[in-house]
Amino acid sequence: MLIRDGQGERELPAWVPPGTDLDVPNAARMYDYALGGYHNFAIDRDMVKRAETGTPGARRVAHANRAFLGRAVRWLVVSGIRQFLDLGSGIPTLGNVHEVAQKAAPDARVVYVDVDPVAVQHSAMLLAGNPLADVIQADVRRPADVLASRAVADLLDFTKPVAVLMIAVLHFVSDADDPAGIVAQFTNALVPGSFVAISHGTRPPERLEDVRTIRQLYKRTPTPLHLRDRREVAKLVAGLQVVEPGVVPVSDWHPDPDEVADVIRDELLVVLARKAGNPDGSAASRGVSPGTGPEQRRI
Ligand SMILES: C[S@@+](CC[C@H](N)C(=O)[O-])C[C@H]1O[C@@H](n2cnc3c(N)ncnc32)[C@H](O)[C@@H]1O
Repeated sequence: MLIRDGQGERELPAWVPPGTDLDVPNAARMYDYALGGYHNFAIDRDMVKRAETGTPGARRVAHANRAFLGRAVRWLVVSGIRQFLDLGSGIPTLGNVHEVAQKAAPDARVVYVDVDPVAVQHSAMLLAGNPLADVIQADVRRPADVLASRAVADLLDFTKPVAVLMIAVLHFVSDADDPAGIVAQFTNALVPGSFVAISHGTRPPERLEDVRTIRQLYKRTPTPLHLRDRREVAKLVAGLQVVEPGVVPVSDWHPDPDEVADVIRDELLVVLARKAGNPDGSAASRGVSPGTGPEQRRI
């Protein structure tokens, strides 16, 4: 089948599931374009360019977010985590979770979850034949469906710690859908010693006009934006032990001195938090106090 978009007429690529509407922009493909990927359409590229006009730095934020994902996964592997549930995983690009984790721990297992058919189809193609990673199409707002899925049952052992990654996805969940309740439903399924990692779009008070522009753009996608401030992001991990340095701008979370990255302080907040207690559940809660995370070693 032929498609026509900003690149002229061409064959529909294999990563495009039948029925995909090429005229509706979408967060997964916009993010892919912002990161320099090729799994996007003219409408997505146009949206990112408009977002750049509204808020210079939209692409830099995407790169800073992706760099945080890598730092967080490496931190978790050093902390002993070998199982990852990556919610809102996106279209595969450089530094996918299984690649980062398995580089340090070849036995690490990953289940990717995304609601977007392009993200899922491309992930499935990439992961074909990989016994330690899988992808499902599901909605993060339905934790029970995710947790009951065949891929989760086959790959993840919930009697051992799991890291649930919610990187740049909860700002697509409205207050009405209760993002804190969603996080709690996932963490309730985890044993002590498990972690949650979150990055979340925020609204710098001095840039309300930019925020309005970006929000308007995302209203054209199936997933409008719900930005939250530091207090609201902290509420998402209520009841968990927040790992130092706490809820912070993305560039301030364990920056890697070897990483060449733009400093992003205004647009994105991040946090890592741990479910308290011993992983085997044997003794009273101990866990990691804020500021005293597990001994960290560079990998
Ligand atoms: C900005 S991308 C982030 C991708 C990846 N987590 C990262 O940070 O590099 C957001 C992803 O969340 C997905 N998403 C949005 N709402 C979702 C939902 N309700 N359930 C599952 N995925 C969702 C989008 O399809 C998109 O792939």
